[in-house]
Amino acid sequence: MLFQRVKPLDKILETAEKKALTRQLGAFQLTMLGIGAIIGTGIFVLTAEAGQKAGPAMMVAFVIAAVVCALAALAYSELASMVPVAGSAYTYTYAVMGEAIAWTVGWALVLEYAVAAGAVAVGWSGYMNGLLASAGIELPTALKTGPMDGGAFNVLAFTISLVITGLLVLGTSKSAKVNAFLVLIKVIALTAFIFIAVPTAKDVNFQPFFPTGWGSPLGGVGVLGAAASIFFAYVGFDAVSTAAEETKNPNRNIPIGLIGSLLVCTVFYMLVGYGAVGSIGSQPMIVNGIALHPGTPEMAAACAGSDALVCSKEPLAHVLKMIGFAKVGNLIGLAAAIALPSVVLMMIYGQTRIFFTMSRDGLLPEALSKVHPKFKTPHVVTMITGVFVALFAAMFPVGILADISNSGTLFAFMAVAAGVLILRKREPNRHRPFRTPMAWVVCPLAIAGCLLLFLNLSMYTIGMFFGWAIIGLIVYALYGYRKSELARGVDHPNAPKMDAEPPFHEGPQA
Ligand code: ALA
Repeated sequence: MLFQRVKPLDKILETAEKKALTRQLGAFQLTMLGIGAIIGTGIFVLTAEAGQKAGPAMMVAFVIAAVVCALAALAYSELASMVPVAGSAYTYTYAVMGEAIAWTVGWALVLEYAVAAGAVAVGWSGYMNGLLASAGIELPTALKTGPMDGGAFNVLAFTISLVITGLLVLGTSKSAKVNAFLVLIKVIALTAFIFIAVPTAKDVNFQPFFPTGWGSPLGGVGVLGAAASIFFAYVGFDAVSTAAEETKNPNRNIPIGLIGSLLVCTVFYMLVGYGAVGSIGSQPMIVNGIALHPGTPEMAAACAGSDALVCSKEPLAHVLKMIGFAKVGNLIGLAAAIALPSVVLMMIYGQTRIFFTMSRDGLLPEALSKVHPKFKTPHVVTMITGVFVALFAAMFPVGILADISNSGTLFAFMAVAAGVLILRKREPNRHRPFRTPMAWVVCPLAIAGCLLLFLNLSMYTIGMFFGWAIIGLIVYALYGYRKSELARGVDHPNAPKMDAEPPFHEGPQA
């Protein structure tokens, strides 16, 4: 019965008031759009976590995560181009697998977006604290990080989350020029890092290469554990697939944009990883033969006073400071401090639009989809989301938030890849602006890859994921199941509407 509550695709397209967007984006612009959305806290901050989990073999982890993302991206694009509306994976599953699974995916996307926003905010605070320290301003330790990381309340991460929430309520979205500028800053920062760090690489820093092995299911360490964490560094490529409707010749340009941006980022990440490992080494903190989990009090204690890469909260700046390039290190810190807030903005934005869509469908209270009369933004849901993001950011370490976010993203990607195959069977003749190449190979591989990474997250993360899923099912049983617009047969001609387009849609128009 539940699985029969499927929202017809045509109805989705109709109620979402699809705007006819001009097809203007080419392969190059799409690739730039992808790079802009991908590079963030993952490479700037999680390099330290990946080092703690895999040692020098984190470079292998970067490749594994990239391959899984490329497979998932190819599947994602088919549905994104068929259903180019707000709500992404949640909307696709509603059309393909029915309301109960759509709800579960939507609920998991809270992890993908809201928790990721918190992770990026914490990553930003690490660089900001480094910059402040170099200017002679030291915050008290208690205010630098959350309680699991040796502090009490991460005041900078909390503040930036609230500031960005305020901007979103006022209707700020990234302008095309700002977006292009931020991409440039990030690329220049990573390039400078590579040019300085790579030539200083020494063989000895790569030994032993696999200090923690491949890892084991639910272990959260080893190369696969590092791949499951560093997956975060690639998230954001869906920006390319959501631009499908605006793309010239999507069948050719979308895969080029997706694979192109993933490839460019993978090359950057590999070189950054090589430079970081080769210049100062990245051996994990091991106590009693066991690699400590990043973001735990044990790790914080082992790191006290240590100069190790795996302990740094601003690893790229730290490497350069350690090899005698303190000024450039500070500039990289500045680049991260300038560029990362835009990733927080995109993530909170994405979250509010998913909540908005779910509330429009009756699965969440209607009050959430209230649109501000003046700013034309969904202010209620934005403020609620922002407060939660700020609290996560204040209390949790970056690695734990990134892992929890990954669990939700991986789950959503699996649902999307399965959805592609189901829809190929059910509606083979529907127009597909982009078709996943070799779908019957690519989609099952995408599902297998996501499952592999999911299972290599730590037990703690997977526990959080299932705990969250159970809360979600209870909320659905008590609320959405009865109130769903689809179940009640309600159409909503007066549904609230927003003005703003997703921020990344503006990106390539520069
Ligand atoms: N890929 C994005 C980042 O690393 C989410 O910040």
